[in-house]
Amino acid sequence: MRSVTVFAPATVANVGSAFDVLGFAVAAPGDTVTARRSEKPGVTISEIVGDNGVLSRDPHKNTAGVSVLALIKHLEGQGLSSLATTGIDISLEKGLPIGSGLGSSSASTVAAVVAANEILGAPLSREELLPFAMEGERVACGAAHADNVAPALLGGFVLIRSYDPLDVVHLPTPSNAWVTVLSPHLELKTQDARKVLKRSVSLESAISQWGNVAALVAGIYQNDVRLMGRALEDKIVEPERAQLIPGYAAAKKAALEAGAAGCSISGSGPSLFALTESEAAANTVGLAMRSAFAALEIQSNVYVSQINSTGTSVIHRE
Ligand code: HSE
Repeated sequence: MRSVTVFAPATVANVGSAFDVLGFAVAAPGDTVTARRSEKPGVTISEIVGDNGVLSRDPHKNTAGVSVLALIKHLEGQGLSSLATTGIDISLEKGLPIGSGLGSSSASTVAAVVAANEILGAPLSREELLPFAMEGERVACGAAHADNVAPALLGGFVLIRSYDPLDVVHLPTPSNAWVTVLSPHLELKTQDARKVLKRSVSLESAISQWGNVAALVAGIYQNDVRLMGRALEDKIVEPERAQLIPGYAAAKKAALEAGAAGCSISGSGPSLFALTESEAAANTVGLAMRSAFAALEIQSNVYVSQINSTGTSVIHRE
């Protein structure tokens, strides 16, 4: 195989109450990476489109490059890589807005490690690629959280029970759920949205939070969208981050009034997501949220889909 092209979808991390431990994938938008065998040893990034020139082309500074370098280093250590004689070149097409809360850096990173792994004959499984994709998150925001990369890689809902040791649980995909994602034309860096969080929480907030996380997982297993919606309630992170997103309170209110089962911040924001039980309801909620932002003269994009149960996919091989 000389080249492989891979699509990795947007993801909704946190899912309301489950900060840093739960995320799911949606159908679109997403990022596309083509990896090619190259005469130049190591990793090169020959092209990035759709980033307005903001991402580094230096593989040691680019999240996708860092992850592929970590993968290659591991494979060479295992004697599994043939990169001593050839290298890998990466082209990245950004379909995801940067700093949107839709797992933009994760989608690039995951697409790149999957493409590189394929080019090398797929020595590692999707699950085994996760730690390398997490290295990209460390570069992107200083914390190697997995609630975007894991669902982008594996699809569906993924729970991170533990980071050390890494223990990832793939949950069932609730077929009744429809997701509306609204991405306002604002930028919020994950690093900044993490800085506003308090370092300690009260016992009262913790009790509310673990009740909601448990109910969310129950709702996913029971395919009960209303229960999932109630369980998005977040006493710890949402109150701090909502202040960073102009129009958030009004858009959430509009979503709930339009019939959403629940609404919260997607990842670290500024995007929002809402859960409903039908495509028609998801579209209605999208219009309501978009109007709330438009009233503040903030433009936005709306994406409606079910949960993407397959995650990253190979779309072309040559
Ligand atoms: N769990 C991470 C956070 C996701 O909320 O900071 C970042 O997209």
